[in-house]
Amino acid sequence: MAEVIGVIGAGTMGNGIAQVCARAGYGVVMRDVADEFLQRGLAAIERSLQRDVDKARLAEDEKRAIIERIRPTSELNDLSDARFVIEAVNEDAGLKAQIFRALDEITTPDAILASNTSSISITKLGAATRRPDKVIGMHFMNPVPVMKLVEVIRGIATSDETYERTRTLCEQFGKTALECNDAPGFISNRVLMPMINEAIFALYENVATRESIDGIMKLGMNHPMGPLTLADFIGLDVCLAILNVLHTELGDPKYRPCPLLKKYVDAGWLGRKTGRGFYEYGDK
Ligand code: CAA
Repeated sequence: MAEVIGVIGAGTMGNGIAQVCARAGYGVVMRDVADEFLQRGLAAIERSLQRDVDKARLAEDEKRAIIERIRPTSELNDLSDARFVIEAVNEDAGLKAQIFRALDEITTPDAILASNTSSISITKLGAATRRPDKVIGMHFMNPVPVMKLVEVIRGIATSDETYERTRTLCEQFGKTALECNDAPGFISNRVLMPMINEAIFALYENVATRESIDGIMKLGMNHPMGPLTLADFIGLDVCLAILNVLHTELGDPKYRPCPLLKKYVDAGWLGRKTGRGFYEYGDK
């Protein structure tokens, strides 16, 4: 049987990660707390792979074989055979630490425990285990099957061997691993979130319309999406949570989240996933 990778969480990031693991030939045990979430994750994988079938880049039987390599489960113990686990649950530091503690108990001592966190300290997650040398950050970008980058984050105790095994795995996924040290927001969000926040301040201060702000950055800087569209795509609650981490942990007022972002989150206007953010999405 193919080597097994455990993936925790079947949401947008978790199901994308499970898909790239299975497509690289690995057996995947994908765990979520309820069958409903697992079925939704599997359906998203099927839809994503179907795009490649439709474009004749993947045969129907290959698609089926990839999906069959993914075993959904609600039992954490089913990950006990995995030599590599990638956690992709909500950005809740307490929940992640609890999962890392449990994984430390059930997996073999040589298993690497990776987190897809976008802002939580890898060093802290490592400290929740008895193997901090084998804990690492593996930050995939959304949409996972499309985006080439994996930001690989070394906690204070992460070993060179763990880093090398992680980098090799990223290469097998067809991704590029780029390394950084553990610091709030790592590199991706330390640079991206202030840009998004500034775009929201510009809207808040009525400097330009949402369409102008996005159009200027899209056409002028050759970005695939304008910053407000991108914020809606990421989720405004996620953007706010990351800005709060940057603001609190770096203690610099330049990371202060824009009041308009807070207001949208309070209203439940979280972006694409709720049908409304800076734009309205009729399909939700
Ligand atoms: N699964 C598989 N393929 C997908 C896909 C998915 N979920 N979504 C899009 N694609 C593919 C399409 O099939 C298409 O493939 P080809 O060009 O090879 O035919 C390609 O991606 C482009 O898609 P579309 O033509 O539908 O749309 P687009 O050209 O507007 O691209 C996009 C969509 C790839 C999302 C592009 O807009 C983009 O790159 N946006 C920026 C995304 C970004 O910045 N992501 C990082 C967010 S930050 C983050 O994730 C980390 C964090 O911590 C917050």
